[in-house]
Amino acid sequence: MITPYSKTSTIAFWTDPYISKNLLEAHLDSNSDLASRLPNTIYQTCNFIETLIEKDRLIADFGCGPGLYTNILDQKGYQVLGIDVSRTSLDYAKEQNKKVIYKEMNYVKHPLNEKVDFIQMIYCDFGALAPLAQIDTLNNVNRSLTEEGLFFFDVMSDHYFDKQKEDYHSYREVDGFYIEGKANIKERTVLYDRLKLVMRHILVEGKLKKEFFNYDKCYNIKEMEVLLKDNNFEIVKVFSDTMGNKDFEASDTLCFLCKVIK
Ligand SMILES: C[S@@+](CC[C@H](N)C(=O)[O-])C[C@H]1O[C@@H](n2cnc3c(N)ncnc32)[C@H](O)[C@@H]1O
Repeated sequence: MITPYSKTSTIAFWTDPYISKNLLEAHLDSNSDLASRLPNTIYQTCNFIETLIEKDRLIADFGCGPGLYTNILDQKGYQVLGIDVSRTSLDYAKEQNKKVIYKEMNYVKHPLNEKVDFIQMIYCDFGALAPLAQIDTLNNVNRSLTEEGLFFFDVMSDHYFDKQKEDYHSYREVDGFYIEGKANIKERTVLYDRLKLVMRHILVEGKLKKEFFNYDKCYNIKEMEVLLKDNNFEIVKVFSDTMGNKDFEASDTLCFLCKVIK
């Protein structure tokens, strides 16, 4: 079995020139929640964010993708900054809205060069990071927030983990999701029970070889509370999703609103 996090590929996955074009299509497909949530959920999330932070404040969207949230937040009267590593998504986002400022930046490596009032990281991207990258990200969020600033993010829940199954399958594609031309794809899902960690290993063999290790670390509230406290954050409120619901028993996600401990 592969040692958890001994191999990671988050940035390579999101910035691969061929894959990022297919990802952009997936983000924009209003019938699919493969890359972004469905439009109604995105609207309800922005409506909920409106209850958490006053208008005119500066919001940074870490991992903004093609700007599905930033556009709505801009329309609601916020100043908005979109941060992403995918040039393909950012180019699309910039075309759609000239008022939002977009920046190509890796939030694991860099803080913002200005202070913002609210940082959001939506669609369980935090749990996709390896533990050291999570710590670096929390550090960068900390350094980027104003004194009263808030960090809003979601993760997969233990409830989601309990429904996952190990799996292996292989298939062939031509001009598919991962690579141009013919390819053999092998996809394996590995569960690490003690860590409540799901790993998806994807091996693509065609005219190029590509290999990805995608992680979903699942959490309960207590575990996240400890992780946040160790990194100088405290929880302000917990929800079961980004829309502000509190259906903790049944939800596949948990969503945290937190602030820096002074
Ligand atoms: C699952 S998508 C979610 C996009 C958006 N939040 C949404 O829900 O529509 C993750 C996004 O985060 C970006 N991303 C992943 N890791 C990143 C990093 N370290 N720094 C900046 N952006 C990152 C990806 O390029 C991608 O656009």
